[in-house]
Amino acid sequence: MRKKIVAGNWKMNLSLSDALELSSEVSHYLTKSKPACEVILAPSFTFLSALKSIKEKSCFLLSAQDCSAAASGAFTGEVSAMQIKSSGADYVIIGHSERRKYHHEGNELLLEKIHRALAENLNVIFCCGETIEDRNSGHHFETVQEQLTRVIFKIHESSISKLTIAYEPVWAIGTGVTASDNQAQEMHAFIRLLIQEKFPDHADTMSILYGGSCNEKNAAALFSCPDIDGGLIGGASLKADSFIEIIQAAG
Ligand code: 13P
Repeated sequence: MRKKIVAGNWKMNLSLSDALELSSEVSHYLTKSKPACEVILAPSFTFLSALKSIKEKSCFLLSAQDCSAAASGAFTGEVSAMQIKSSGADYVIIGHSERRKYHHEGNELLLEKIHRALAENLNVIFCCGETIEDRNSGHHFETVQEQLTRVIFKIHESSISKLTIAYEPVWAIGTGVTASDNQAQEMHAFIRLLIQEKFPDHADTMSILYGGSCNEKNAAALFSCPDIDGGLIGGASLKADSFIEIIQAAG
């Protein structure tokens, strides 16, 4: 059986006190209701250690939103996988389309980052997804296949169980336009098929999350698709009520 996961990517939002309040509300819900799905909160780096103490009393996990490809040293402003791990994180998100777009992160760099994260025993949520131009020109499968082939398929099989994939069509992120259940399921099934071909022992166990304007209204239908194992949630993870409803949708 695959793990259902609901992860909140807070991006560059919230103050420290907002972050503490939101995580306490989520924590309160989780300790009371004990949902079957795994819940991950991904705050800014600066809040990781503050949330660690709430995490220890609760049952959510913590993720960073990125990590450096370097182990340590003179890289002003960067944050290493070791620092993330030692701040209490269990996961790191790598390859988010906002990192690819605004920081020009390419496949080679993303692979280095993943190796660095795995070396620190962090789990990785790897994001992939096509632009609207790719989809309109019918190249969306090709784009996602290339992102997986150039990064995930270069990882040694012994580490694959540390990976979760998030399919996030760029045109659906922060736009209010969600992929339809059919569009999302079709891509998730395609991703699983590629994993089946490359790492046959892991296709059934790898969680593949959907991200892109997923909210409390559309989550239940998306999560009931056979190859959608939860969501990576942006905007709707910033309010306890909507995020909790999404957790409930994952069962
Ligand atoms: P939205 O849910 O705000 O569209 O963001 C999705 C996302 O980028 C999660 O990583």
